[in-house]
Amino acid sequence: MNNIIYLDAAASALKPESVIKAETEFLRDSYANAGRGVCARAVAVDTTVSHVRKKVADFIGAEDETQIIFTSGTTDGMNRIAKIIDNPVSGETLKNKTIMVSDLDHHSARLPFEVLRNSFDCKIVLCPMDRNYNLMCSDLPKADVFVITAMSNVLGVAQDVQGLISAARKKNPNVITIVDAAQYVVHEKIDVQKWNCDFMCFSAHKIGADTGLGVMYIKEPDRWVSPDKFGGGMVSRIVGSAASSNYSVKWETAPAKFEAGTLPLTQIIGLEPAIEHLISHRPNLDLIKYLYDRLSKNENIKVITERDSAMFTFVPKNMHVLDFGVMVGTMGLCLRVGNMCAGWLHNLMELSGTVRISVGSWNTMSDVQKAADIIEGIVK
Ligand SMILES: Cc1ncc(COP(=O)(O)O)c(C=O)c1O
Repeated sequence: MNNIIYLDAAASALKPESVIKAETEFLRDSYANAGRGVCARAVAVDTTVSHVRKKVADFIGAEDETQIIFTSGTTDGMNRIAKIIDNPVSGETLKNKTIMVSDLDHHSARLPFEVLRNSFDCKIVLCPMDRNYNLMCSDLPKADVFVITAMSNVLGVAQDVQGLISAARKKNPNVITIVDAAQYVVHEKIDVQKWNCDFMCFSAHKIGADTGLGVMYIKEPDRWVSPDKFGGGMVSRIVGSAASSNYSVKWETAPAKFEAGTLPLTQIIGLEPAIEHLISHRPNLDLIKYLYDRLSKNENIKVITERDSAMFTFVPKNMHVLDFGVMVGTMGLCLRVGNMCAGWLHNLMELSGTVRISVGSWNTMSDVQKAADIIEGIVK
């Protein structure tokens, strides 16, 4: 297994030693639940969770840690936002609203909103794209909700999130803006205040932390009166007696209000070293440029991405991408083949699938040189 060259960072990052160490020490030496206990260990875990929350707030430029909600990942976050913003208690319902999505969107970002088309009679409109598949700030349709993919997981280009949000607000000052930053977070510094977005999500596992954890930023947590999940840890008090029909439940304030149930504590403990590691070890995109310069000369390869993309995506001209994936896999290369859960973009590009190479801090020039040797050998 150690001869494997792992070039699939965009699917999930390998874990730095510091993350493994922090999680192991927590599980072995200081484990307890958070938000429930009063014993010393439980209090220490509470303190650590709020410390990590503050770290995340700083990492994404949030005003304070009450805006940071732990989820199980980007998919969970996007699905939850679709429920949170239907807020009949405060009179904000999605019924008949116009939702702008784009063909850059990952299925996780777009489907939770696409399904509202039927259940809420919502209208889906598309954000315009230029010929290089970048989202355009001009000629945006007027929308009530705008889902923005900050970086496509196929094309790897950072979008002008700030410009898009500002343009959408010129059409409708009340538009609710939701950013999928699952890929963007790996390569670029997020600044949610500069973006001025209402929501933003990313997955911890793509930045070197563990699976089962994500971050959902909410700009105005108090605005969204009804939580989308219910359970322990998010109830402040029950007013009245359950025996009478006249009782009500008061929610905790954010973030607890949006964090029903036990949090993924081990993963949260690993998030701080993962963020620190990412900040000092962003993926070396010279490796991607090397692949581009070498493989774009190959007549049997059609390159999809640009030279300065965060990933290298291509199609072998003389074989199916799945066959290609199996062949390179037997030679020790781990890369991604298929439609990357970006079916709309692949339809637009008239491709059934692509091959994607993405790098993390563990990859070296020698990895991509060997990968290029293997790929050239297979497509010839
Ligand atoms: C752009 C983008 N959005 C959303 C997701 C979904 O992330 P997760 O599966 O961690 O929820 C991914 C994962 O590949 C992604 O690349």
